[in-house]
Amino acid sequence: MTHSSATRRVANRFVAGETVDSALAAVSELNAQGLSATLDHLGENVSTEAEAAVARDVCLEMLDRIRESALNSNISVKLTQLGLDLSVDLCRRNLAALLERAARYSSFVRVDMEGSAYTQRTVDLVSEMHHTFDNVGAVLQSYLRRTTEDVERLLAEKIRIRLCKGAYQEPDEVAFRHKSEVDHNYLQLAKRLMESGTYHGIATHDEQIIVALEQHARERGIAASAFEFQMLYGIRRDLQKRLRGEGWGMRVYIPFGSHWFPYLTRRLAERPANLFFIARNLFRG
Ligand code: FDA
Repeated sequence: MTHSSATRRVANRFVAGETVDSALAAVSELNAQGLSATLDHLGENVSTEAEAAVARDVCLEMLDRIRESALNSNISVKLTQLGLDLSVDLCRRNLAALLERAARYSSFVRVDMEGSAYTQRTVDLVSEMHHTFDNVGAVLQSYLRRTTEDVERLLAEKIRIRLCKGAYQEPDEVAFRHKSEVDHNYLQLAKRLMESGTYHGIATHDEQIIVALEQHARERGIAASAFEFQMLYGIRRDLQKRLRGEGWGMRVYIPFGSHWFPYLTRRLAERPANLFFIARNLFRG
């Protein structure tokens, strides 16, 4: 698929280039500011075993290169990128290869969460892998009605969770309809995670929620080392810096690669103001 140069310029704000080198350069820049990273090679819903193998190999290269460069970064991966649409078995083998390599380097693999059609399989596979590899973590989304139960299940298994609000279009049966419900659920679940004794990621740019959670941590005496905040590359850099400056852990999710269009579409959908940014770039030609 070809994209206009204007779309590409917009993508550059949210995506750290198309190559492993450009992504590592972004990690290095953030590390210099005291921020840690998680690298995501963009891609999802592969339809052949060969594509899944390529995706797995890029992730292995990322782990090797992060290690060689002594960078502070782990990786994030989507199961449909590792072949989940083809078979759970194939996906399991590819994920196990990543976890083995990451374990060798004392690194960590975060399994991103996709649309609700994949939630059960994703939670199940992360849970199964966690029996062998304690360096795997899941993502849960506060917009899903089922998430409170999933949180309890993964907490009981001491699995590290990244909590986000959720980025996919979901029907009312499975997801809360109103933003206020999603936000309320987020706040409650984040507090639960912070108090759990396992190290979780609080992934949001919602300043109101973040301020409430900072206060919660202070009131309950929850140490900064007990959890981390996480944000997306290029979004609320000011807040990323402020939180780090106040002594909280801050990890930036850095996507890169040529398959940036679905990712960019999700970022634009959740913040229509970004369309002005597109328009401005269109007028620049
Ligand atoms: P909300 O959307 O309510 O935004 C709060 C404020 O943040 C806005 O008012 C604005 O200031 C700022 N903001 C938010 N989005 C912005 C944007 N695109 N551009 C500019 N400003 C913006 N989702 C998922 O379904 N599966 C996953 O695995 C992940 N993984 C993930 C990792 C990390 C580290 C983060 C931060 C997020 C995800 N997400 C995700 C995405 C997440 O579900 C959600 O769509 C976005 O984070 C936006 O939600 P907020 O929590 O930021 O709140």
